[in-house]
Amino acid sequence: MAKNLNCLISAGPTREWIDPVRFISNPSSGKMGYALAKEAKKRGFVVNLVTGPVSIKAVDGITVKQVETAEEMRIAMIENYDTADLVLMCAAVSDHRPKFKWHQKKKKIEFPKNIEMIPNEDILEQLGRKKKKFQTLVGFAAETENGAQNALMKLKKKNLDWIALNDVSNSSIGFNSDFNEITLFSSGGKIAKLAFSSKEELATQMFELILK
Ligand code: C5P
Repeated sequence: MAKNLNCLISAGPTREWIDPVRFISNPSSGKMGYALAKEAKKRGFVVNLVTGPVSIKAVDGITVKQVETAEEMRIAMIENYDTADLVLMCAAVSDHRPKFKWHQKKKKIEFPKNIEMIPNEDILEQLGRKKKKFQTLVGFAAETENGAQNALMKLKKKNLDWIALNDVSNSSIGFNSDFNEITLFSSGGKIAKLAFSSKEELATQMFELILK
């Protein structure tokens, strides 16, 4: 049991607002992140979950911080990072946001043909730069092609201990599905293929490997 250890998890999508009624987002359901949070709790961690908008009920005994934008998620992750022993960055963070947010709803006829986008900060990369010896940092890579190559590049670039790769080109797994298939890569060169399973079962297997 991981008594007195802290686990910080992010889950779900972020929303990047264009005006008060429109935003840019992605189909992340938050199911994988919530399954990880439940598993962490079961194993005795004190769990902090930072979640984008999802329709999953909060888990008993877990501290939940609800956020919408990538910037709100970044602030919440940084606030809870220094005391976290294990960090699982499972959220599907929007890489970009509109440069301007209109304060009034844009009428159909005045809606711009082009929306200028600017990059969001990479939260995980920022956490990787601040990582202390006692911390284990885990990222996710949702890829449609060259999965292993991209995942390994991100593992290194973001200074991670583990990265969990999933293939989002297959609609029976990944985004919004109850099931997933994961390949885990460690910075020490370990590779583990976790076969098609429910997200709960995969969360259990991920904790077993990471805590070994
Ligand atoms: O580079 P890519 O977006 O594919 O990396 C995915 C990983 O980085 C995920 O763990 C995701 O939560 C995290 N990420 C982040 N901040 C961003 C974009 C992605 O923390 N702005």
